[in-house]
Amino acid sequence: MLQLNNLTVSVEDKIIIKDLNFEFESGKTYAIMGPNGSGKSTLANAMMGHPAYIIHHASDVSRQTPNNKDLIVLDGKNLTEMESNKRSDEGIFLSFQSPLTLSGVRVYQLLQLALNGKKDPLQIRHEAKKYAKELGISEELLGRPLNEGASGGERKKMEVLQAAILDKKVLIFDEVDTGVDVDSLKQISKFLIKYKKNKTYIVITHYNRILHYLKPDYVLVMISGKIVKVGGADLAYEIEKNGYTSI
Ligand SMILES: Nc1ncnc2c1ncn2[C@@H]1O[C@H](COP(=O)(O)OP(=O)(O)OP(=O)(O)O)[C@@H](O)[C@H]1O
Ligand SMILES: [Mg+2]
Repeated sequence: MLQLNNLTVSVEDKIIIKDLNFEFESGKTYAIMGPNGSGKSTLANAMMGHPAYIIHHASDVSRQTPNNKDLIVLDGKNLTEMESNKRSDEGIFLSFQSPLTLSGVRVYQLLQLALNGKKDPLQIRHEAKKYAKELGISEELLGRPLNEGASGGERKKMEVLQAAILDKKVLIFDEVDTGVDVDSLKQISKFLIKYKKNKTYIVITHYNRILHYLKPDYVLVMISGKIVKVGGADLAYEIEKNGYTSI
């Protein structure tokens, strides 16, 4: 279970997420929807431990998180003070809304570094090739420096491939469906379903089309840094039909 307790997040001295409380149950699929700028990516980055996103208790106006404040807790372990690589070791993965290019670094090298000896390099190559085939990623793209010259959709597929190889407990996908064509969306969705096992998926999206495949257990609506509504899959259809004004 991933718990967020009185979580407030500031960026550049501006409070974006306000006193958020939520429990993500293990093994479930969650969708987070909400208008542009409502704080969805900020929440994802804060959960992953991005240093630009300062997390603090809602009551802490000085924005200095004191030790022992359990703002982010994964399966009983307090992640609040951990850096992102440690959080990754504890089982969190974030697929970025805008995946970056890493010149001179191939995906194999990045994965080896991230896995820190937990998987043999040959196994990483074997898995990467297998998953690439399933996701429709060419061998040429797989062998390139990460995301160099890659299209928007190709970048999203590379994120999904890394997610599968890193094999974490909680996977956050920030707009993995944006800029992805209909066939690729199907490929990505099928892949995520196939390798879900008992993982927790948190899928940030603007569109119902990926949720049609992933069938979320819960849909969360975030507006102005707060979760204002939690519902089932039907809520996503309601949003698609009526927008956020009716929420
Ligand atoms: N690094 C940053 N520096 C300054 N402001 C930021 C930074 N990151 C986020 N913000 C601001 O925080 C607010 C929330 O942004 P965020 O990216 O979390 O929104 P979002 O809900 O993911 O939106 P979208 O649906 O467009 O992706 C925005 O006003 C944004 O400009
Ligand atoms: Mg975003």
